[in-house]
Amino acid sequence: MAQVLEARIGDDPDRLTAALEDGALILLRDTPFPLQPDEMSLIDPAIFSGESKNVSYDPATGRLNGVGLEGEALDRCRAMVARYADFARTLLQQVAPGYLRTAEQKRASFRPGEVSVRALSPRKDDRLLHVDAFPANPNQGRRILRVFTNVNPEGRARHWRLGEQDFEAFARDFLPRLKPGPAPLAAAAMQALKITKGRRTPYDAAMLQLHDLGKLDAGFQSTTPQSEVFLPAGASWIVYTDSVLHAAMAGQHAFEQTFLLPPSGMAAPDKAPIRILERLLDRPLG
Ligand SMILES: [Fe+2]
Repeated sequence: MAQVLEARIGDDPDRLTAALEDGALILLRDTPFPLQPDEMSLIDPAIFSGESKNVSYDPATGRLNGVGLEGEALDRCRAMVARYADFARTLLQQVAPGYLRTAEQKRASFRPGEVSVRALSPRKDDRLLHVDAFPANPNQGRRILRVFTNVNPEGRARHWRLGEQDFEAFARDFLPRLKPGPAPLAAAAMQALKITKGRRTPYDAAMLQLHDLGKLDAGFQSTTPQSEVFLPAGASWIVYTDSVLHAAMAGQHAFEQTFLLPPSGMAAPDKAPIRILERLLDRPLG
């Protein structure tokens, strides 16, 4: 069952790590990301380039995407999101330090847009309950662990819903509709054509289908047990978004940092979605 576990920095990391792996959202109420005075003008959807819904920063390349800024303002925005990447890493170090041995720090994002007013196709609509899967970035069985921080300057909470089904129960319900895929040649072609960065494995194909099947199933959306969660301004939260059913309903101005973690880096690797799906399907998905 998905649940919110209120925690503080200094709580037993083994307990928090186990809770994350059991599907908890770890809520740290009083962990604001301190913005600097010259960054306040960046907390505004006007910084968007108009093409994407997030501003994203890749720590591997130092590149910032999604903004229509130039010169000094661009540098300032890049420095802000890069600083958030460091902030999120420190937070993870405090909550689940064991993960940093194997976790790969991927993109950090800034989300200044209002979530509740977006008009999107159901597949892209994150107001529908879903587990995360990245079409262009196969993670090949690695976990998606995300750190979020609400920096809304007016003190507005971010409104989510969490599904109460655990990943195994959710996957079991949709299992009969899962198609095997992709053939090795098709996966190689997608990689060669740069449709995917890296090879899309049978695991990635299964997760993308679970993401879509869940969002497109109106009966599931309306009847699956779920709870409303309000994530206050000034709070941070950490959750495995590849296994916890979640929907972002409303809110504006949040930061996010994605980590990818191999199942072997978990305290209980058998709780990784790849291991659960392999068990349910009785075949390897690597
Ligand atoms: Fe998501």
